[in-house]
Amino acid sequence: METQRLDYTQEVAAATEAVYQTLSRHYAMDHWKSLAPYVYEINRLKKEKNAVILAHNYMTPDIFFGVGDIVGDSLKLAQEAAKTSANMIIQCGVHFMAETSKILCPEKKVIIPDVLAGCSLSESITGADVRALKEKYPGIPVVTYVNTSADVKAESDVCCTSSNALKIVNALGKLGHDTVIMTPDKFLAQNVAAQTDVKIIYWEGTCMVHERFTPQDIRDMRQRYDNIVVLAHPECPPDVIAESDYSGSTAQMDVFIKEKQPGRAMLMTECSMSDNIAAANPKVEMIGTCQMCPHMKRITLPKILKALQTEGPEVTIDPEISARAKKSVLRMLELS
Ligand code: 13P
Ligand code: SF4
Repeated sequence: METQRLDYTQEVAAATEAVYQTLSRHYAMDHWKSLAPYVYEINRLKKEKNAVILAHNYMTPDIFFGVGDIVGDSLKLAQEAAKTSANMIIQCGVHFMAETSKILCPEKKVIIPDVLAGCSLSESITGADVRALKEKYPGIPVVTYVNTSADVKAESDVCCTSSNALKIVNALGKLGHDTVIMTPDKFLAQNVAAQTDVKIIYWEGTCMVHERFTPQDIRDMRQRYDNIVVLAHPECPPDVIAESDYSGSTAQMDVFIKEKQPGRAMLMTECSMSDNIAAANPKVEMIGTCQMCPHMKRITLPKILKALQTEGPEVTIDPEISARAKKSVLRMLELS
């Protein structure tokens, strides 16, 4: 491929000025000058190729504000993938998210800028594990977090995200199921169990990012800062949720901050989420602590540009597995 100069020209500066206004507290001008040419070229190329960039809330601000066409939590990205009229989806997030888009849009080209962007939850369970669970607990529906491979989704009855997990479990309860199996996140399952009468059997997976938070982190911060509002993702351990003021998916945390505009807030979740919320809510003082997801951080502007230029790496799924996984994902979309 021909090498391309990515200079900070006047044209690039003018085209990226509005984004820089939002991000000027995050990037010094010298740093921005190295990012802006990528933002410009990615936005130009995605129009030319009728590609859509789906960016998760954990993408760094340059990606989130600079090139994301649709940004949000796992549920929103799945819903939007199902609706898009673009020819090509560039998934800025981790591999299971790209697989979810491919499951919903098998006819489209779905590209992930780095195939190694995995997930500790997704890696904790296989389709064979779900089959074994179903044999052990016949007749009990399996609710599977979207943070899983297509193979695992294919073996499950319905998917869920952190936005709708409680709703899905309660919907199954109303259909007469007094017990459900939740895979693979044990903390999400325990946090849902605390809010429902439906009995939950859970798998032992954890998110390597959210499992690191402790209640002591929250107590320490409350001692150091007055009036701090603490929001925790439901992948955190239940004792962390108990010490927080609010728990919700990344999109639900975003809405909470936008609507309530607390003077000071701390998010028990991935670091870029706090950066993106801080950029969008300049009146809210965002306080550490946060944890970095090494998988999410594999996605960078240069890799997104390369993905657009080369139209790869493409995500492919065995069509038979994909069709069965689609049933679980669509059932989730219907119930939510
Ligand atoms: P949500 O954005 O759906 O809350 O998920 C968080 C997450 O960990 C995705 O990897
Ligand atoms: Fe997986 Fe956790 Fe990273 Fe999300 S934050 S991709 S759940 S490891």
